[in-house]
Amino acid sequence: MTTNWQEIIAAVDQALDGYLPPADSFPPDICRAVRYSVFAGGKRLRPLLVITTADIFGVPLQHALPAACAIEMIHTYSLIHDDLPALDNDDFRRGLASNHKVFGEAMAILAGDALLTAAFETLSIAAPVYFPPHIVVALIQEVSRAAGMTGMIGGQVADILSEGRPVHPDVLEYIHRHKTGALITCCVRCGARMGQAAPKQLQSLTAFGEKAGLAFQIVDDILDVVGDEAALGKKTGADAGKQKATYPAVHGLEKARAEADSLYKSALADLAPFGAAAAGLTELAGMLINRTK
Ligand code: IPE
Ligand code: IPE
Ligand code: MG
Ligand code: MG
Ligand code: MG
Repeated sequence: MTTNWQEIIAAVDQALDGYLPPADSFPPDICRAVRYSVFAGGKRLRPLLVITTADIFGVPLQHALPAACAIEMIHTYSLIHDDLPALDNDDFRRGLASNHKVFGEAMAILAGDALLTAAFETLSIAAPVYFPPHIVVALIQEVSRAAGMTGMIGGQVADILSEGRPVHPDVLEYIHRHKTGALITCCVRCGARMGQAAPKQLQSLTAFGEKAGLAFQIVDDILDVVGDEAALGKKTGADAGKQKATYPAVHGLEKARAEADSLYKSALADLAPFGAAAAGLTELAGMLINRTK
């Protein structure tokens, strides 16, 4: 497979376009709101993780697209809802006005709902074209668990409840491992599931995903302090303003950076059993940790 990331992203964008109803479908308001955020220019790191992990096992790009796009839909829904006034109340996302600033709160809530549902529609309709039912069910289990109450939603709940109060380092780690780490881990697990990975391989990839996912959110916290708004496409300094539970706030910038670096190194060690086949994942892990956006 190509590791020309731009080429893979173009394939993901094309597939997303095909899975979603056209912009002028009825009712057009929701279709426009959904497409606005999906095509606002995210990094597509999660689809890249799915596709690159699947590739280790020889799963063709085309076959990995339904799971890759389903996860990107869930990620985009989580961003639309995360920005709502009731949650983080952020006005900018992916370099544009947040969904609710353009379409209103009601439509933003519904656009999130629509994307969450579309993810499972995609998994259950597009994935069976390439995979037998037991693998499709495994994908649905992976994604629903990662996105749900014991995954991303659990993390978002703890994030919101921890706002404006002192937070124990263990709670902070719980928040980050769940609100962000769960879906990132899910990406590599879905890749492994599609590739019918052996239990030990699934275990190694899960360990990689958990560390990469935690590191990813630590870097997100760091970028909120030191990052560039134009590059990030979202406001910086927002976490401090809301007294959010972040690694820089709890541990300081230097320790936060050191923790991200050490997680990165340890994550790479989890890929060792795969040898050269994991070159793409290794490169992605580097992109994820050294990013400026
Ligand atoms: C932002 O995720 C939200 C977090 C989980 C930190 P990304 O940084 O991957 O956002 P996009 O998809 O590139 O917009
Ligand atoms: C977002 O965490 C996690 C989810 C959306 C699930 P943040 O609130 O830190 O993400 P940004 O900084 O708004 O992108
Ligand atoms: Mg948030
Ligand atoms: Mg936020
Ligand atoms: Mg953040």
